Amino acid sequence: MLLGMVVIVLLGGLLYTRIRDGLVVDRLVVARSEATRGLRDAQARFDTVTDPDGLNVLVNDLLPRLASPEGDRSREVVLMRALTNDRPPVVPELSSGDVSGSTIPESLRQRVTSSSQQQQEFVRVRYSGTERTKPGVAIGSTVTLPVAGTYELYFVFPMDREQATLDLVRRTLLGGGIALVILVGAVAYVVTRQVVSPVRQAAVVAHRLSSGRLQERMRVRGEDDLARLAASFNTMAASLQAQIAQLENLSRVQQRFVSDVSHELRTPLTTIRMAADVLHESRTDFDPAVARSAELLATQLDRFESLLTDLLEISRIDAGGELLDLEPVDLRDLAARVIEAATPLCQGVLDLHVPPQECVAQVDSRRIERVLRNLVVNAIEHSNGRPILVRVALDQEDPHRAVAISVRDHGVGLRPGEAALVFNRFWRADPSRARTIGGSGLGLAISSEDVRLHGGWLQAWGEPGEGSCFRMTLPTGPGAELTASPLPLAPEQDDLGVGSPYLRIVPRSGPHPLPRQDRTVGRA
Ligand SMILES: Nc1ncnc2c1ncn2[C@@H]1O[C@H](COP(=O)(O)OP(=O)(O)OP(=O)(O)O)[C@@H](O)[C@H]1O
Ligand SMILES: [Mg+2]
Repeated sequence: MLLGMVVIVLLGGLLYTRIRDGLVVDRLVVARSEATRGLRDAQARFDTVTDPDGLNVLVNDLLPRLASPEGDRSREVVLMRALTNDRPPVVPELSSGDVSGSTIPESLRQRVTSSSQQQQEFVRVRYSGTERTKPGVAIGSTVTLPVAGTYELYFVFPMDREQATLDLVRRTLLGGGIALVILVGAVAYVVTRQVVSPVRQAAVVAHRLSSGRLQERMRVRGEDDLARLAASFNTMAASLQAQIAQLENLSRVQQRFVSDVSHELRTPLTTIRMAADVLHESRTDFDPAVARSAELLATQLDRFESLLTDLLEISRIDAGGELLDLEPVDLRDLAARVIEAATPLCQGVLDLHVPPQECVAQVDSRRIERVLRNLVVNAIEHSNGRPILVRVALDQEDPHRAVAISVRDHGVGLRPGEAALVFNRFWRADPSRARTIGGSGLGLAISSEDVRLHGGWLQAWGEPGEGSCFRMTLPTGPGAELTASPLPLAPEQDDLGVGSPYLRIVPRSGPHPLPRQDRTVGRA
């Protein structure tokens, strides 16, 4: 529409100036030839008289005839004494049709007196006794009157008719232009509505589809390009829906299978467990090789049991609809409990740093305890006896926003890229790595699901030889939104140790608190 308006304005302007120039040029050509003829006639008539009276009579008679005939006021005449004429005035200054002498501007008079040629200028034609003026052109030259000397004779051509024509043209162009703009606007509106509304509808349907409403379809109307688009869109949606349904079905079957197998294995496992316990208890009666086998049987059964428990947990999570048993928990107590239980497994320093104030969050304590236990056991397994530091912290800016627990060890660490892989199911850095405890590779996968259910983050950092750090950040309640974690993940930011407002408690094993230089042992 804007473009249309610009084009119409430009075109209208051009047309208007063209018509105006044409009208003016035509009028000028006619005016000039009339003036030349009139001047020649007048000079010839003036040359015929010799006395002042005759001259006066001639002038009074001639002027009305030089002007256009009565009724048609398209040409007027003005006779004035030349600016340089200093003879006594014999003939008065005269004009036809009440045209005032002030119509002739000073500049034109100067040019006429100083030149023998005809001169012209556009003027406002004024009339004596009235305020009204008209646009026009004045063409003049000097004439020599016998006895009276040099006079200026001007022909004034009012251009009011041209003005009227131009006004009509302007009104027509303006009216036409406005009508055209409205028409362009209406056409644009109709066309865009026709194109845009189906596209909008398509966008709405696509949005609904992407938000999971797979049965949404577009309406197909007519046979144009948009109808074809809608038809292909619907085909795509239908095939997507079919494939997703198939995949859902498949994954449901798989989940059922895993969960059924785990359940089915439980009963025989219980029986085996009881038998193994009997064997284990009476191992002292066996010869050493058989006793060793009984021990192996017992430890491997432990692993088997924990694997089964993990599998059942994973299939429960996959089945969805897991409900959290939320309650306010002080994470300092929770961490202390976990550390207490894990200490017997640990050969090195296992330290806990907590802030003086309460770190309460609405969590499912069973799950969060399981997560932390897994993190601590992992750290013990991979730290090779080097110090382990567990830290609890509260969001400094807004204590009602986030709490965090991090487990930092100085053991084998993680290779580049492994920090993201550790949360994958059954992933282990080195399947052949010698282990004393655990080892199915499901622990962190379950942990990350648990943390995700709470709306929190579970992140890992590690470098080979430097150790690793696992950080769990939890919102304090269901309404809180996580934006940052109160604890650092990588050790560059690791300045919250000893000396900070954090209290050190529970120095479990090892005689020393965990000084900074101790940690460099791990790096060495
Ligand atoms: N603190 C750590 N330092 C180095 N590597 C680690 C650490 N914690 C975990 N990993 C790596 O991540 C892998 C996965 O850990 P995850 O806890 O999921 O399984 P797991 O400990 O092997 O078995 P489980 O299911 O019994 O916990 C581990 O096998 C190990 O390679
Ligand atoms: Mg583990």
